[in-house]
Amino acid sequence: MRKKLSLLICLLLLFPSLTCAESIASFPENIDSMILVKQSVIPGKDVVLPEETPLFLQETVKKYNWINNGKGTKLNIFVPEDKLELYKSHGPYPDGITAVAIYEDQDIVFVTEHMAGQPLYGTYNRDGVDISDTHPSLKIKACYQCHEGYADICKNGTCATPIIEIFK
Ligand code: HEC
Repeated sequence: MRKKLSLLICLLLLFPSLTCAESIASFPENIDSMILVKQSVIPGKDVVLPEETPLFLQETVKKYNWINNGKGTKLNIFVPEDKLELYKSHGPYPDGITAVAIYEDQDIVFVTEHMAGQPLYGTYNRDGVDISDTHPSLKIKACYQCHEGYADICKNGTCATPIIEIFK
């Protein structure tokens, strides 16, 4: 808790590169009890995206298609059951873990948590080891750049447009 508070403060002070280098969101211990809300893919490096692909998605693919040796990966998004309704409306979110995205073919766990209305991010392996310093695209700064940079798509820190049954 104290770690979170100090990191939240460093964010508010806009010193992300100094003190916010590590994962801030907690590792989710209970992914198995969360609800799968979206299945998607990061195509491999050699895949040429259709020209009409929105810029936002092109950027995302470009940033993460190194995963799984550039071969692409399945991406599953899970949300705690009690946050489902809020996830549909992009929040506003109460404190706690909000959503988890897993790059299945390399077991990379992306976490979004909220505290006092602010999104916090983290990247872990399946064992809960913080891997945010192992690749530039896993750095917490990168999460904010994209999730806050595309304000018309990402609201309150979450970006996905859920397309599966549960949201119809
Ligand atoms: C270049 C853009 C980009 C960057 C950088 C990025 N994301 Fe995302 N993120 C997305 C997009 C796009 C989606 C929605 C994916 C989908 O709908 O299939 C998403 C979805 C997610 C989700 C699922 C919940 C949701 O709807 O937002 C989590 C969790 C997440 N990102 C965490 C992170 C973390 C942690 C980082 C930093 C390591 C990060 N993201 C960096 C673009 C980005």
